[in-house]
Amino acid sequence: MPKTFFITTAIDYTNGAPHIGHAYEKILADTIARFQRLSGREVFYLTGVDQHGQKVQQSAQQRGIEPVEFVNGITELFLALWKKLDVKYDAWAATTSDVHKSCVQGILQRLWDEGKFYKSSQSGYYSVRQEQFLTDKERGPDGEFGEEWGEVVLIEEENYYFKLAESRQWLLDLIDTRTRSANPIVIPEFRVAELRNAVEKLSGDLCISRPKSRLTWGIELPFDSDFVTYVWFDALVNYISFAGYDAAPGADLTDFEAKWPAVHVIGKDILIPPHGIYWPIMLHAFGFTDEQIPALLVHGWWNIAGAKMSKSLGNIVDPSALAEKYGCAALRYYLLSDIATGRDADFSNERLIQRYNTDLANSLGNLLNRTLNMAKRYRAGALRRMDSPLADFTNEKAAAYKKQMEAFQLQAALESVMEIVTRCNAYVEETAPWKLAKDPEQADKLDEVLYSLSEALRIVSILMTPIIPKEADAIRAQLNWTGPVSMEQSTWGLLPDGHVLGEPVPLFPRIEATPAESGA
Ligand code: ME8
Ligand code: MG
Repeated sequence: MPKTFFITTAIDYTNGAPHIGHAYEKILADTIARFQRLSGREVFYLTGVDQHGQKVQQSAQQRGIEPVEFVNGITELFLALWKKLDVKYDAWAATTSDVHKSCVQGILQRLWDEGKFYKSSQSGYYSVRQEQFLTDKERGPDGEFGEEWGEVVLIEEENYYFKLAESRQWLLDLIDTRTRSANPIVIPEFRVAELRNAVEKLSGDLCISRPKSRLTWGIELPFDSDFVTYVWFDALVNYISFAGYDAAPGADLTDFEAKWPAVHVIGKDILIPPHGIYWPIMLHAFGFTDEQIPALLVHGWWNIAGAKMSKSLGNIVDPSALAEKYGCAALRYYLLSDIATGRDADFSNERLIQRYNTDLANSLGNLLNRTLNMAKRYRAGALRRMDSPLADFTNEKAAAYKKQMEAFQLQAALESVMEIVTRCNAYVEETAPWKLAKDPEQADKLDEVLYSLSEALRIVSILMTPIIPKEADAIRAQLNWTGPVSMEQSTWGLLPDGHVLGEPVPLFPRIEATPAESGA
């Protein structure tokens, strides 16, 4: 069976509406998945929603409804958003589904049988109002727990613990072996040091249970019905439960192993500890080999004017409203071109409009439109296959794009595409086809120009397919290119002699910014 390119995203908490950070992550993974498919690989893209846990139970309680009713409502918002943003996944991970619950319980039972859990009584500070244990992180500068926690009491609670610390050295060795290998564990590499430091300091084990007396909205421990499992132990398992993993000894894992391991696309806040520490140690305990420990593609955050988005600041950006206002293509293009994978960026409507108008409306849209109009006017749309001074340049940029996409550097890849467009626009100015058209002696040169621009646009449309799929299709329709769409077709010279272009239709209408949006 050929190996499948398996990509996942973090599953989004269903205790609030989707925001721009959620949209970025899903579009990033969607674009990578589409690129892999374009490169001829089998792809499995898994995304979904994280529906259990204390926060969800609290949010439902505040609204006076059942948790299931609450999460179903929020889940609908996510499903509608992915449809609107053209995010196409192959499987949907909703953690309340039966497939997932039985996989989590199968794993819990096996680890319990194998002695990887122990029960222990621990005391700690507990906030009655917030219904959670507090750690030193929650202490204020004065060393006290602040007002927001209400009454804080020292309580003793029995729970189940997963042996985490005993795998500390194994994980350190794994990180060292995999970093700078062909199969790095954390991408980009600048994030490895902070993970390694955190693993160095790892001492305690992981509490994997919550007594039902304070949390009922979760997956019950199969060996003790007084408890549900901790939300991370539940959520992380989505990556394997929805890919056909079965913890039962002797289960047939052929389909699962054709996909595994995945590349997990996550934000920087959930690298340490969940994805960088709990998850590899959990997989190690389930019997996964070192080669089967997945890679983590860690992206940065979209901030607002340098500050974190937050409910209390009231600056949460709604991706659905943006797509409605500016279109899905403008939003996708902006979110992929204005941030370097791994780094943070500032979100602004002004930048979104600027990037769209400059790159898509002015550069690409105009190039397409003027090329088709000139070909129509001077040659009734018919091309002659000519040698081109743009051939090598375009092939080089397409090769650079491929390398950058393989390395998940989408911003750089988009720059490579836009360099082709910029070169084409300069070539139009240099050759002035409107002058060539007046001189019969220059007929060959005019044919060279029209062929070169059309062929470059065909290649650009293929390279843009993962980013703005619908508009890339529309470009090809206007070029009347009905051949296969794949990375293999992105080499120069495939438009045949005598090819007749289609009708020009304006594709990227300029966005007219309001004074507020243009920063005035
Ligand atoms: O963490 N910019 O869910 P979540 C970019 N359910 N990305 C952002 C962001 C921002 N401003 N804010 C959040 C969870 N994200 C868990 C994951 S995985 C088994 C369970 C990213 O809804 C964040 O980093 O809080 C995470 O990758 C994703 O959105 C979901 O965040
Ligand atoms: Mg979060």
